[in-house]
Amino acid sequence: MPHRPKYLPDKARAQDFSRRLRRWFRRNSRDLPWRRTRDPYRVLVSELMLQQTQVSRVVDFYGKFLKRFPTIHTLAAAPPKRVMESWEGLGYYARARNLHKLAKQVTVNGGSGALPTVPAELQKLPGIGAYTAGAVASFAHEKRAALVDTNVARVLARVFAPKLNPKRPSDLKCLWVIAEEVLPRTGSATWTHNQAMMELGALVCTARVKRCADCPLTSVCLTFASDTRG
Ligand code: ADE
Repeated sequence: MPHRPKYLPDKARAQDFSRRLRRWFRRNSRDLPWRRTRDPYRVLVSELMLQQTQVSRVVDFYGKFLKRFPTIHTLAAAPPKRVMESWEGLGYYARARNLHKLAKQVTVNGGSGALPTVPAELQKLPGIGAYTAGAVASFAHEKRAALVDTNVARVLARVFAPKLNPKRPSDLKCLWVIAEEVLPRTGSATWTHNQAMMELGALVCTARVKRCADCPLTSVCLTFASDTRG
């Protein structure tokens, strides 16, 4: 059975988790350019760049790319060659090709260039998977949408379900269910909550080290409990 309810936290624990996480984020987060915008196009560009590339590198490219293509309309109108040139250094060019295709698709025949707000609709667009759909819905539209990438999967597994292996598709599905379950009530709190999970995974609960001394979640974390017991 893919959705094992035994890993699902109850309401009180879910709320405790999210409140601690968001308080930590307000005090410890990095000031990154894509956290200062709610423009869906800008959020999408950042999330695509961040998929395979480290944050410091994306910070450099992000500003340059947006200077060249400030709106989804300017991107749609650009020749493919210029789009590819602007992606040079980031690699994984399929991301740029899909982004260009998406821009044309949403602006064709006088299209407004607006991006859908619902994850299921976003996922119909080129190059947008479950993670990116959740990211655009919550980071741009401030919708109450879950997202799970490698970092988030690791954090959720360590806190709530240490036996799950995020590399196993059925376990990953469970982690998505947990991610839904721990979302705060409002869209704006969800923006902070999701950014905070990414940030905790990048700075504290990393793949290589668990910096539990700096973690706001030790009191709710099953991995911390088992690492420190006896
Ligand atoms: N990686 C993917 N999305 C991110 C975000 N919004 N902030 C930091 N790192 C990220």
